[in-house]
Amino acid sequence: MNLLKQSFRTNLMVLGIAVLILALLPASAQVSSKKTAGPWMNSSLSPDERAALVMKEMTLDEKVSLLHGTGMEGLSLISPLAVRSNGGAGYVVGVPRLGIPPIQMSDAAYGVRQSGQNGRYSTALPDDLAGAASWDLDAAYEYGALIGRELRAQGYNMSLGGGVNLAREPRNGRTFEYMGEDPVLAGKMVGRVMTGEQAQHVIGDIKHYALNDQESGRNAVNVNIDKRSMRESDLLAFEIGLRESNTAAVMCSYNRVNGDFGCENKYLLTDVLKKDWNFKGFVLSDWQGAHSAAKASAAGLDHEEPGEIFFGDALKKAVESGKVSGAELDEHVLRILRSMFACGVVDHPPEKSVVDVVGGFEVAQKIEEQSIVLLRNERSQLPLEVSKIASIAVIGTHSDVGMISGGGSAQVDPPGGNAIMPPGKGKTAWLEPIWFPTSPLKAIRAAAPRANVQYDPGTDPASAAALAKTADVAIVFAYQWESEGMDLDSLSLPEHQDDLILNVAAANPHTIVVLETGSPVTMPWAEQVSGILEAWYGGSRGAEAIVRVIFGDVNPSGKLPITFPKSDADLPHPNIVKPPVASTTRDGDPDAWKTIAAGLPAFQITYDEGLKVGYKWYDAEHKQVLFPFGYGLSYTTYTYSDLKVTPGRNVHLSFTVKNAGNRAGSEIAEVYAVLPEGAGEPPKRLVGWSKVKLDAGESKEVAVEVDPEYLSIFNVERDAWQLLPGGYTFLVGGSSQSLPLQASVNLK
Ligand code: BGC
Repeated sequence: MNLLKQSFRTNLMVLGIAVLILALLPASAQVSSKKTAGPWMNSSLSPDERAALVMKEMTLDEKVSLLHGTGMEGLSLISPLAVRSNGGAGYVVGVPRLGIPPIQMSDAAYGVRQSGQNGRYSTALPDDLAGAASWDLDAAYEYGALIGRELRAQGYNMSLGGGVNLAREPRNGRTFEYMGEDPVLAGKMVGRVMTGEQAQHVIGDIKHYALNDQESGRNAVNVNIDKRSMRESDLLAFEIGLRESNTAAVMCSYNRVNGDFGCENKYLLTDVLKKDWNFKGFVLSDWQGAHSAAKASAAGLDHEEPGEIFFGDALKKAVESGKVSGAELDEHVLRILRSMFACGVVDHPPEKSVVDVVGGFEVAQKIEEQSIVLLRNERSQLPLEVSKIASIAVIGTHSDVGMISGGGSAQVDPPGGNAIMPPGKGKTAWLEPIWFPTSPLKAIRAAAPRANVQYDPGTDPASAAALAKTADVAIVFAYQWESEGMDLDSLSLPEHQDDLILNVAAANPHTIVVLETGSPVTMPWAEQVSGILEAWYGGSRGAEAIVRVIFGDVNPSGKLPITFPKSDADLPHPNIVKPPVASTTRDGDPDAWKTIAAGLPAFQITYDEGLKVGYKWYDAEHKQVLFPFGYGLSYTTYTYSDLKVTPGRNVHLSFTVKNAGNRAGSEIAEVYAVLPEGAGEPPKRLVGWSKVKLDAGESKEVAVEVDPEYLSIFNVERDAWQLLPGGYTFLVGGSSQSLPLQASVNLK
């Protein structure tokens, strides 16, 4: 029997048993939203009080039922109760007799996942890295609020979005799901996304805690890193994100960190997260990230997903035998209940409704317009003036029908299926690239109705160059697809796209390249083209947003949240460390999940670049880059003057930014600090920024408050942040390598 049929039969059996069990359950257990009059339903009590009151009424089995999911095919056994799942990645049964609803979890990195297979619709926002490129805290809130609304409309009350792993390894296949290489930018942005989500009464989640920075061998790898480096970089992003949002859940990661798996790592989960950061929410494992009952429980794991290998019967037995104390079990339960009350999922259960498709388009387009980064604009090639352009060559893979999107558990299903397939045919499949139906060709034709707009797929560089030669302007859409479950071999564009661009550029001096990438890419052709736009994975309305930038309806304002190096050789680790065979599972092995749960043998990665993540590496190593962190051009220019720095609990900076051109725009003004000599720090770090809207010719005084923690180092001996007394220099400007203002102060 082939595997598919077999799994179909298994499913039918499971379904049959489930229906039987459901029929036998008391009716009260089946009504998830049943209202009870218990005192914990009094919403004027605090979430902690309410959680304690309701927990007192629970049996041991009810408590344990909150500590695990109900299974997922191929990753664990599936509980018969899983039939009540809303179709998302996780389902926790709840305690209906006490009015505690189930938790319905969905992946939601740049939109709600699995809408296709559930017959629903979700907006695809620009990817998370794109969101970070807006450096716009209001846009981040909108990003989260949209996801929160669409989760609720689809019947979910918990999000699994919120990826904030720092880009130590930019070839990581999930770079697009994260927020770049700087902890302050990433932390603040993810915090706002989560605030927006949780305001819609869904439980938010920040992941993957911690240092899950590559996909290769993620279930086995042991990351070696010193405490100071992780506290000041990778963990700081989580710390800021949690502090600024009170996100209720943290997903611990697959990998090991300094010897212990993320989900049984006492240092990460208890010492840092729960004690030092005073995190009040709950820790859930990544899907199959749990490897033990007693050890993980003691380390601080509260909840296992997707099934109950360890946090079901095994944990119950450990409690009954005294191996795990009742108090420890209660703490896990309390954290989950408290989070449910705090986020409003008990008082405001989701109401299924039709997603606001049109509203979603508007938000997705607006965010993409703020996220596109103009990297090159020779001789003011852009914006194009519609009245002056008679012909345009549109070139590049599938740019007649769509734009590429990020894969894996982040994947949002496109309406109508994969745009490169016949309508209705291209459903999303693991590790298969999905093109969203937002067509650059159509959008360009609509924006320039009188121009002769011709298309070439770019598969044959000579034919593309021949078309380019005949046109006033050539626009090449180039892509780099990435996904969970893989890493990029290199930062080069795949499928000979470098050749294509070089050929087109040689044929037409007015060549503009639009990049659809989830990571930085190398550009051996950069000097040959006249314009480069980084559009990331542009979401549901990517093409429309790009075209508004190309034709000047939008003045670009995005800035890079990640450095674009010149070559892979300049990265801290020129080659990705791949797992040995012993640290992997066999393809197609039905028992792979058991092997993973038992713990694959470790292999080692050592992040010996330490504090030098992203721009801090290139700065310290004096390596020239292609485009620096924080960089992005505009159709106008900005000047900076009058920096004043006033020391205090927060250091207060003020300076003036002037729009010196003749077009309105928004400038992201960046503030970096150089720590006192002897601090042992990389040359500078981002400590704040402000996005300033300026009309042509307008000046504004900008104020930036710098949190003392952003100026501190993590003192490992004292296990605390420390502001070193001494001279601090503040640098202000429009990118990490263009900082015209400078002032120094002494801090005590
Ligand atoms: C991913 C998580 C995701 C989970 C559930 C895992 O493979 O690492 O980010 O939330 O699956 O789909």
